[in-house]
Amino acid sequence: MSPASPIGVFDSGIGGVSVLREIRRLLPAEELIYVGDSIHLPYGEKSLEEIRRYTEAVVQYLIHSGCKIVVIACNTASAAALSHVREKFPQLPIVGMEPAVKPAVEHTRSGVVGVIATTATFQGQLFASVVERFAGDVTVLKQPCPGLVQQIEAGELETAATEKMLRGWLQPMLAAGMDELVLACTHYPFVLPLLRRICGPDVNVIDPAPALARQTQRVLANAALLNQAAQSGELTYFTTGNTTTFARTLNQLTGDTAEINPLYWNNTGTQLSR
Ligand code: DGL
Repeated sequence: MSPASPIGVFDSGIGGVSVLREIRRLLPAEELIYVGDSIHLPYGEKSLEEIRRYTEAVVQYLIHSGCKIVVIACNTASAAALSHVREKFPQLPIVGMEPAVKPAVEHTRSGVVGVIATTATFQGQLFASVVERFAGDVTVLKQPCPGLVQQIEAGELETAATEKMLRGWLQPMLAAGMDELVLACTHYPFVLPLLRRICGPDVNVIDPAPALARQTQRVLANAALLNQAAQSGELTYFTTGNTTTFARTLNQLTGDTAEINPLYWNNTGTQLSR
C-alpha cells in the first residue's frame, strides 16, 4: 500500500457514481476502482445478513486489487455492514455513508427534517444511532422509497412514473413542515432536479456526496496516503451485472463513456473474481 495505490469505491449499482465523481473532482490524481454489484441490486430490499455477505466479498476483492482505502458509496451496505467490515479488515481504512441528519438538524428552521432511503437503511442500527445522537428535539421523518433505485438504474430521471412515486412520498413530508431533506441513498442525487422541483425553494436538499469525498481526503491525508502526482489518475469500472447496461446507464446519468469490465461471483456469493 502506498500513495500511488488505488481508492476502491463500491455500491450495489450505479448510485455510488454520485460519490465517485465528487472524489474525482476533489482528488484528481488518485487512481480509482469502482465496483457496482449490479446483479444483486437492489440491496435495499434484501436482508441485512445477505447485504453483509456481499459487502464483505466486495471489500475483500478491492483489498486484493491493492486498494489503500475502500469507500462504501452505498448507504444500505454501510447500514448493514460498515462496522462488520471494519472489524474484519482492520489493515486498511474503510469510509462509509452515514445519513446526514446532523447538518439537517443544525440548519432546520421548522424543526422538521426528512430522510429518504432504502427500506434496509432504516432497519440498520446506524440510522437509529444517528437519530439518537443528533436529532435532539427535532422531528425526523423517515420515508423508504422502494422502487426508486430501479427507476434511476433504468435512466428514468424525469419521467412521469418517477415523479408520481416521489410526489407520493414527499407530499406528506412537506405537509408536515419539512424544510430539510436528507438523501440517504447514493442513487438519489441523480434525481436532484426533480426533487428540487417537487420540494420547492424553501426546502434544502442535502446530498452527502461532497462531504464523503472530503472525509476520504482527510482519512488519506492522516494516513500519509494522499497521491500528490501531477497527472490524473485512472478510473476503472467493474460490474457484476450486464456491462452494456451499466455503460448505457452511466452515460445517461453522467454523460461519461467508459469501458465497463465484468466481475463474477462464485456460486455461494462469497467471492468475486475477474
Ligand atoms: N445506492 C444504495 C444506497 O445508497 C442503494 C441501492 C440499492 O437498494 O441497491 O443505499
